[in-house]
Amino acid sequence: MAIGKLGLALSTREIKGLVEDDLAQVEAEFRLEAVGSVDAVSQIAQYLQSNGGKRLRPILLLVSCRLFREPSPEAIRLAAIVELIHTATLVHDDVIDDAKTRRGKPSTNVRWGNQTSVLAGDWLYMQAFQIALRLRSFEILDLLITLTQQMVDGELLQLERIGKIGITEADALELINHKTASLFAACTRLGAIAAGATQEQQAVLGDFGWNLGMAFQIVDDILDFTSKESVLGKPVGNDLREGKVTLPLTYALQQASADERAAVEKVLASGNYDEVSVDEIRRILDRHEGIERARARAQEFIAKSRALLESFSDSPARSALFAATGLIADRDR
Ligand code: IPE
Ligand code: IPE
Ligand code: MG
Ligand code: MG
Repeated sequence: MAIGKLGLALSTREIKGLVEDDLAQVEAEFRLEAVGSVDAVSQIAQYLQSNGGKRLRPILLLVSCRLFREPSPEAIRLAAIVELIHTATLVHDDVIDDAKTRRGKPSTNVRWGNQTSVLAGDWLYMQAFQIALRLRSFEILDLLITLTQQMVDGELLQLERIGKIGITEADALELINHKTASLFAACTRLGAIAAGATQEQQAVLGDFGWNLGMAFQIVDDILDFTSKESVLGKPVGNDLREGKVTLPLTYALQQASADERAAVEKVLASGNYDEVSVDEIRRILDRHEGIERARARAQEFIAKSRALLESFSDSPARSALFAATGLIADRDR
């Protein structure tokens, strides 16, 4: 049966409402577990936790679980684990990208320095595995280890490509798969695993999360050009300054003139917008419909994720997952 308008009408607040109590437990678990014997680790974890963040990954895990049953304490634990892994990747990512801002505040590398941030990130990863170990499930450990390696592969791939203008659509999508979609897929699959769903249901939900994650990162790449720092919590035009040619720019570059390519090269080479402004880059994108084409690509992933939900019977959880796809496509932060 096709999914009606009901799903689409749900707001972020209503989706969160469905898992509000679960999320409160996840927050408590996160707070309890992210305490190290050295102050810096606890401070960094607490700093990031209190600076906001959408908690999208635990929400997706919990709602996926609720397709089948109420989340058990194991599901709550898994939700805390994925947020810990996400937090660790952000701490490391900001060191790698030499980022200045995260969640609207100075990034941890700015506040604590690179050395401390790298070690705190390591600690957070290990803590996530430590908690996972208590679940006594090789299946879950295997999934989490494979996932973490995939994400690290993504960062390594990205490093190899830093400053390069000749990024193809396939390159850009491969990177998105590694660095973002893999975690989304793990979250929705873990939700199904925690609920005791069948292998087939786990696979469908994993696919759902993967497609949603692909769309999420493409939208992130778009927002990097179109949003405002005050909304996004990180600077705009940042990806190109960091040497990253993302999907919208990849599309525009396919049709760009020699002068336009030279302008992009200048930002890549200098790592600043002193000679070529962000607005100039925006105009290049506009002329070649880079944003529109990336949006269309994200929409294809959203459509796939929605189609995958059709195999589940109608329920508040399914409506929430369906609504989440629309909210992710249209998000502004
Ligand atoms: C940031 O993810 C990293 C990306 C995959 C783009 P989010 O945008 O979900 O970050 P928070 O948790 O809400 O800060
Ligand atoms: C985010 O990569 C994906 C991670 C694995 C953290 P980005 O470098 O594109 O994300 P932001 O823009 O810093 O959030
Ligand atoms: Mg990065
Ligand atoms: Mg980054």
